[in-house]
Amino acid sequence: MASSMRSLFSDHSRYVESFRRFLSSSTEHQCMQEFMDQKLPGIIARIGDTKSEIKILSIGGGAGEIDLQILSKVQAQYPGIHINNEVVEPSGEQIAKYKELVAKTSNLENIKFVWHKETSSEYQNRITEKKEIQKWDFIHMIQMLYYVKDIPATLKFFHSLLATNAKILIILVSGTSGWDKLWKKYRSRLPQYDLCQYVTSSDLSQMLDKLGIKYECYDLLSTMDISDCFIDGNENGDLLWDFLTETCNFNTTAPPDLKAEIMKDLQESEFSIKKEGKVLFNNNLSFIVVEA
Ligand SMILES: C[S@@+](CC[C@H](N)C(=O)[O-])C[C@H]1O[C@@H](n2cnc3c(N)ncnc32)[C@H](O)[C@@H]1O
Repeated sequence: MASSMRSLFSDHSRYVESFRRFLSSSTEHQCMQEFMDQKLPGIIARIGDTKSEIKILSIGGGAGEIDLQILSKVQAQYPGIHINNEVVEPSGEQIAKYKELVAKTSNLENIKFVWHKETSSEYQNRITEKKEIQKWDFIHMIQMLYYVKDIPATLKFFHSLLATNAKILIILVSGTSGWDKLWKKYRSRLPQYDLCQYVTSSDLSQMLDKLGIKYECYDLLSTMDISDCFIDGNENGDLLWDFLTETCNFNTTAPPDLKAEIMKDLQESEFSIKKEGKVLFNNNLSFIVVEA
């Protein structure tokens, strides 16, 4: 690995910008919306039974777009019930965006929002030390377990916080996605960052099996349009390269042979499909539902 390559996570603003570009170039959030519309109502059907308030814990809620979709489904299931929505999110930038979104969204009157600017393990340590452990009716961890150091311990801890009829929803890239192939083949040649793990739903299933935790897994198709990555000097393409390789300024810092190899692979059928002149990377997602 050339020494000038550094992890995308070392530049938080660039990480956030490349994540935004990924969201606009992919069907990531549409795929999640499809799941929330079609499957979530059944999953949350009983979480609030016999309760006067529903308590939701969002781990790594980001800018809140998906969180608000979840909240609207809970409101539809339990009209008028009071909802306490707490968010554990280490990025101040993301929390600011989340608050802006809440401020401009209507119909949230029965929801109380609380944001904790901390990581999941900081949250875990804080509430354990202060003995402020409370039970939750729905906990979600959407596209964030990559950034957790000890995933089995985290799963075990949050599972222990589930109230009666409660569920955890975890969303991660699928073991059938292009990410799985990309990470397995190239991770040793890309910058290492000990706060990011290349984990997919296949790894997660093994961890849950080992912990003896029951779950169901649903896979949905999603794609990321990476056509701009093949246009020299394209700004969007540069940011998407960074997101794909988790490398800051990959295009200007990667050794040419590494870039050429990845570029060739990205066009192969196990990584992407070609449709209407576009190259669509396989971004399939897994939705894992854990029971109390
Ligand atoms: C890929 S984004 C996903 C955001 C949102 N859930 C979504 O799907 O749009 C990952 C989020 O996890 C947050 N995050 C990173 N490390 C975390 C940790 N250790 N604990 C909790 N959140 C974390 C990041 O700040 C970021 O907002």
